[in-house]
Amino acid sequence: MNIGIILAAGEGKRMKSRHPKVLHKICGKPMISYVLEEATNANIEKKVVVVGHKKEELIAYLKETDSIIKEQPTGTNDPYGTAFAVMQAIDEVEDDDNVIILCADTPLITSLSLRNLIEYHKKTNSIATVLTTILEDPTGYGRIIRKSNGDLLKIVEQKDASEDERRVNEINSGIYCFNGKALKDSIKKIDNNNVQNEYYLTDAIEILNSLGLRVSAYKIDDFEEIIGVNSREQLAYASKIMQKRINRYHLDNGVTLVDPDSTYIEPNVSIGYDTIIFPGAEIESGSRIGENCIIRGITRISNSIIGDNCEIESTLIESSIVGNNCHIGPFAHLRPNCRLEDNVKIGNFVEIKNSSIGENSKAAHLSYVGDAEVGKNVNIGCGVVFVNYDGKNKYRSIVKDNAFIGSNSNLVAPVIVEEYGYIAAGSTITENVNEGDLSIARARQVNIQGWVKKKGLIKHK
Ligand code: UD1
Ligand code: CA
Repeated sequence: MNIGIILAAGEGKRMKSRHPKVLHKICGKPMISYVLEEATNANIEKKVVVVGHKKEELIAYLKETDSIIKEQPTGTNDPYGTAFAVMQAIDEVEDDDNVIILCADTPLITSLSLRNLIEYHKKTNSIATVLTTILEDPTGYGRIIRKSNGDLLKIVEQKDASEDERRVNEINSGIYCFNGKALKDSIKKIDNNNVQNEYYLTDAIEILNSLGLRVSAYKIDDFEEIIGVNSREQLAYASKIMQKRINRYHLDNGVTLVDPDSTYIEPNVSIGYDTIIFPGAEIESGSRIGENCIIRGITRISNSIIGDNCEIESTLIESSIVGNNCHIGPFAHLRPNCRLEDNVKIGNFVEIKNSSIGENSKAAHLSYVGDAEVGKNVNIGCGVVFVNYDGKNKYRSIVKDNAFIGSNSNLVAPVIVEEYGYIAAGSTITENVNEGDLSIARARQVNIQGWVKKKGLIKHK
């Protein structure tokens, strides 16, 4: 069986965070989730995660996944290091397992490389295989030291390396495939005689080598896959690379990103052919956008479905469904649970919450539509407020097809405006409006002649 041991107990000191390092997000998802998913996609059937520092939050997260959790003690006198971490999961390992060691802080690794690593390991009959790459600047990483014939000899940590060794730019990714028995046997022999007084998993390579067993290095070209995240700077760097991958996927699928560097799209988003996305868009996981849409400005689309041929500008859309040929924005806000049918126009400074809007209806300016059911061909004038809350309870309003709500009206819910019900501008509607009626609900205007002059308020005439 392929079993993954995912190390996530480290302190992550350089992140300067109250949260576990591996829960920091890359494109909206905790970095550890990428490692778990790629492992699953590489046929790693069982995943054991070793947690330690700041473990509570991490355990709560992992309980929602299919992984097995092992705790590493993290008292001040407890041992430390990657070998000690692996030790905590060793009970889960059978002698003939392929054990794939992964670091939860190496989120860019792909299932393809993991499969290739396992293949290479098997093909070369190795007892342990290290995934390596070449870095222009290898600073901070363990160095791959080879024998004169090119075979792998050992791994030396930066802090323990000689000057010559530091010049080596082939580095240890921290990802390995071990034979189960070889891992169990060698890990017992690792000590902490090194600069950091840590139990280094990397020492297993030299130990197995000295027993005359075959250890190998499998080198990949794409160094980006093994970038470790130890600081906020590296988190930003890894996020950039992930974003590049995601955006590349959409570009390949017929989506125009006018400036991919400033378009933020999370994983698990689908976008149709010929949709054009201008810089500043943020499209969150789970969203689906149709074909031939135009998305402009600082727009965030979260967990929503957008139809074809829509134009959206500088707008926030949350957990909502938008039909085809809709115009939304600039500066509109669809709060959760809205449904717009086809050809709807939602204009400047309109907020809609928990409401449905029928075909061809419009709310073009400065309105609040909350808890409402709006029919087809309805015109909601400028500044209309659906008054849905009396301070204690929320109520729904119903506006039926072809109704016309004059500007600056208030609809005090619960209220029903029947088909072709017309409401005069400035009305405060507290009672239902019957089909085809005009409702005017405002004080009559009184003009008092000459009042200003009588009060002596005219200065220079
Ligand atoms: C490690 C490797 C180094 C490699 C680098 C790749 C060792 C000794 N060094 O160094 O050769 O180039 O990864 O990124 O293995 N962890 C625990 N418990 C511990 C210590 C660490 O679970 O007691 C976890 C960390 O949370 C992290 C992973 O192990 O996910 C790697 O630990 P880290 O301290 O980041 O190792 P590096 O110094 O980066
Ligand atoms: Ca690291």
